[in-house]
Amino acid sequence: MIDIDIVGTKEFISDSEIEQSGLKAKKAFQTLKDGTGPGSEWLGWRRILKNPNDAELDKIEQHGASIRKDADIFIVCGIGGSYQGARAIIDALEKPFSDKKPEIYFAGHHLGARYHEQLLDYINRPKKDGSRKSVYLNVISKSGSTLETAIAFRMIRKWMHDVYGDEAKSRIIATTGAEGGVLNNIIAEEGYSKYVIPDDVGGRYSVLTPVGLLPVAVSGLDIKTLFYGAVAEFESREKDPGNILDYAATRHNLHEKHTVLDVISSFEPELKEFCNWIQQLLGESEGKEGNGLFPSVASYSTDLHSIGQTIQQGRRNMMETMITVQKPISDLKLSATDSKTDGLDYLAGRSVHSINKSAQDGTYQAHVEGGVPVIKIGLEKLNEQQLGRLIYFYELLTGIYVYMLHVNPFNQPGVENYKKAMYKLLGK
Ligand code: PA5
Repeated sequence: MIDIDIVGTKEFISDSEIEQSGLKAKKAFQTLKDGTGPGSEWLGWRRILKNPNDAELDKIEQHGASIRKDADIFIVCGIGGSYQGARAIIDALEKPFSDKKPEIYFAGHHLGARYHEQLLDYINRPKKDGSRKSVYLNVISKSGSTLETAIAFRMIRKWMHDVYGDEAKSRIIATTGAEGGVLNNIIAEEGYSKYVIPDDVGGRYSVLTPVGLLPVAVSGLDIKTLFYGAVAEFESREKDPGNILDYAATRHNLHEKHTVLDVISSFEPELKEFCNWIQQLLGESEGKEGNGLFPSVASYSTDLHSIGQTIQQGRRNMMETMITVQKPISDLKLSATDSKTDGLDYLAGRSVHSINKSAQDGTYQAHVEGGVPVIKIGLEKLNEQQLGRLIYFYELLTGIYVYMLHVNPFNQPGVENYKKAMYKLLGK
């Protein structure tokens, strides 16, 4: 199971307070299991792990492999829960600076004109040998009508039809709801291949459906190990939820004590996008009816030289969730040199991972001493299996915690307000 360490919150919450909040967490978990809470028609993220669809996993794996073989570029076009999960996993596990084939790019998650213009320019530029790039596009939208995604999709698919003609149809894959939405009309008209997002799985809980699995398969990562990592976490937490209830109870207790912010941090730069996924999952689920913490993200050491100052000495209204990785991802060591002038000889021979670990332990200590309750969430290693576990772990934590606030974790009514105002301005 994913490891949880709440020792760094002990001086802020008494054992009896944890016990009290723990009872509420237990009740919330039961409500989730019984399917009797608000939004219970959206519990498909649990159902898919209870009854894995191996035939679909096989299909996605094979499709991903065939795209991977042929593509130079794979574009994932989506926003919010329709792109963040895939981005998080790929970023966490792909080696940086490697010659990637295919290169994976994201689009439709903002309306940046320059970004999309440059993306179109880039895919249009021939390869070094003068030949045309092989581009595939996966548009992902559960509603099939999100404006940001639709705009990027319109531009990229036009380019694909202009360049590949009829062949564009086999290069465009749409992932959307079973029916309804403009995207389904386009699919029917053009004959693009389609993956269905189950009705009972909401956007930010959909990373283990084709939404996240196809892009991850195209990147060459092992989607079955990822998926079954989540299944393993699901099964063990069903038998005994263990200290995830203490985690939810602690977060809830701090919320009641007027904590405002939850800084989701990691000393592994590879996990920055994963922290953004957690932020999206929690942020769209908990911030309703005047409730919820504000989940923010910090990537260390980078952000220790930035918002780290505020975390250490700013207003005491925050908690921190530190995502840690036990086993090193790399054996890189600091070598000895002939020159003594850089003053680093005391570290010669030490692995960079162990130095990073000292930075992590020191920061943890300093933040707790500075008045920030810190919860540590531990992964054994950075791999598909552990990330699968972490995905379900956070989906479950979100469900339990948000039920403790007595709000629906699975809708996002506030998101409609900006859309209404924007559409009015755009004259829709
Ligand atoms: O969690 C959610 O439901 C949202 O973040 C959606 O994923 C996001 O708004 C994109 O919606 P859609 O997939 O309908 O384009």
